[in-house]
Amino acid sequence: MGERAWQAADEALALRLGLDLGMTLIDTAEMYGDGGAEEVVADAIAGRRNEVFLVSKVLPENAGRRRAIEACERSLRRLGTDRIDLYLLHWRGSVPLAETLDAFAELEEAGKIRAWGVSNLDTEDMDELVELPDGADCATNQVLYNLTRRGIEFDLQPWCRKRRIPIMAYSPIEQGRMLGHAALKSVASRHDATPAQIALAWLLLQPDTIVIPKATNPAHVRENRAALDLRLTEGDLADLDRAFPPPTRKRPLEML
Ligand SMILES: NC(=O)c1ccc[n+]([C@@H]2O[C@H](COP(=O)([O-])OP(=O)(O)OC[C@H]3O[C@@H](n4cnc5c(N)ncnc54)[C@H](OP(=O)(O)O)[C@@H]3O)[C@@H](O)[C@H]2O)c1
Repeated sequence: MGERAWQAADEALALRLGLDLGMTLIDTAEMYGDGGAEEVVADAIAGRRNEVFLVSKVLPENAGRRRAIEACERSLRRLGTDRIDLYLLHWRGSVPLAETLDAFAELEEAGKIRAWGVSNLDTEDMDELVELPDGADCATNQVLYNLTRRGIEFDLQPWCRKRRIPIMAYSPIEQGRMLGHAALKSVASRHDATPAQIALAWLLLQPDTIVIPKATNPAHVRENRAALDLRLTEGDLADLDRAFPPPTRKRPLEML
């Protein structure tokens, strides 16, 4: 979102429709559309900030002590709000994690962010993070997770679950690329649902998992909301496991 000015009004409408339907977490980042996505979000949440749980992210090159604070302040201005509910390090770069955590602590103290977390950190990085002072306060790890990308189930997901750190599953329908898969279509036909809904319903069954599909098309927004009401059966889950097998060994965390 926020990449094409002529689509901005429709994007804001889609986000507002999501809010109307009760999907109140909005995920964005300073990177998306070079700040444009945060401006779309500002438009969508104008007058209804208190309904929204707002997530944004700082770029690794802006994650140093002073730069992170300035980046957050720029995000707040673009978002038209005085606070971000959850502020994430978008991925790990060359800035030491401890420096970023210092900036997050200062932002939290000032009330500019309510909580902080990370994105795209694999198990080794998470081990390092939680050993830092206040590192265990990490509120989430946002990672690529969907039926075609189950690598995290081998170690990162159990690691996070043990420490009660929820996962935010990004690109939950693999940016649309998985929707033609025969197994998804077959399970979908049993529920009078769409493949996208089955992919989302499967993720929603994973414990401690927040699912963040992106949709501009209002029909997609409605479909995604309805995925919450689907109840997959043991048989469905077995068919999905056969088509999209869980990992049997460690694989490095994938990113999009
Ligand atoms: N932390 C990170 O590094 C990172 C990386 C990537 C993404 N993310 C976050 O995750 C969010 C979602 O990921 P994503 O956009 O990469 O992928 P995605 O949500 O898997 O897929 C988005 C695409 O799927 C389409 N779509 C949505 N609902 C659909 C439905 N019910 N049926 C058919 N098509 C549907 C959308 O079309 P329309 O828009 O036309 O409706 C859009 O083209 C992003 O918005 C971002 O906030 C985070």
